[in-house]
Amino acid sequence: MRIRKAVFPVGGLGTRFLPATKSMPKEMLPIVDKPLIHYAFEEARAAGIEQFIFVTGRNKDAIENHFDVAFELDNTLSDAQKIEMLERTRGFLPPAGSIVYTRQGAPLGLGHAVWCARDLVGNEPFAVILADDLVDASTPCIGQLMSAHTKNPGSNFAAVMDVPREKTNRYGILQVTHTDGVLHRASSLIEKPAPEAAPSTTAIIGRYVLQPGIFTLLEKHTKGAGGEIQLTDAMNQAIATTPFYGVSFEGTRYDCGEVAGFVEATNAFYKKRQKA
Ligand code: G1P
Repeated sequence: MRIRKAVFPVGGLGTRFLPATKSMPKEMLPIVDKPLIHYAFEEARAAGIEQFIFVTGRNKDAIENHFDVAFELDNTLSDAQKIEMLERTRGFLPPAGSIVYTRQGAPLGLGHAVWCARDLVGNEPFAVILADDLVDASTPCIGQLMSAHTKNPGSNFAAVMDVPREKTNRYGILQVTHTDGVLHRASSLIEKPAPEAAPSTTAIIGRYVLQPGIFTLLEKHTKGAGGEIQLTDAMNQAIATTPFYGVSFEGTRYDCGEVAGFVEATNAFYKKRQKA
């Protein structure tokens, strides 16, 4: 079944970026001149996603406003004949009604955020995109997962990359049973294992294609690493009935959930922009 919907969990507190994120959602932090969430949205759209489901929290109004018409700004630019700028403020807006919002209420973890989208997703496979993980790729990273899904329908997928062993405690990690170099079949998944306990250094980054059956598992609200409801735990439980594949993707991933990765992405995107 074709993937039409993508879930964007954007309810996080962004504490690593305080005070910048005191009143502004971390997803609105710009890389050069576009907010992180805008890149995530563009990636999904380029991959053919038609419905964008934002799971938000308090203080996230700026995200809704970003994806809406800015009437005064548009009028001013229009009167001044600043057509190119006008295009930049509204050219990216998707058809009315294709973005929907729901609130998470309390930041109980990524698994909980995804579960909040259950009624909006319904009974079909769907994508999940974490805007913190910015991927610069010639084919949208989520599109690469969607292609893998087309070839292996009915499975769960996450983008993966190899990480240094000392960093396994920041990621969901795969126990890989079989690999063709791109698709890595996993027999189990573990969220944020200590380096000595990690079954591999193949780590999940924030792109997923999931079967709707995941919602039944998330419904249990079982707490895992860090006392949070973890998506990794639900995908791990799902392996009993639903194969799980890690997908090595083409592209460069920047961890914009921390300051160093954010600055690295800023420099790389700025250089690229100057060349263009
Ligand atoms: C989340 C997931 C984790 C994944 C990571 C990728 O963790 O829980 O499995 O590896 O995203 O960025 P977080 O970074 O939200 O702590």
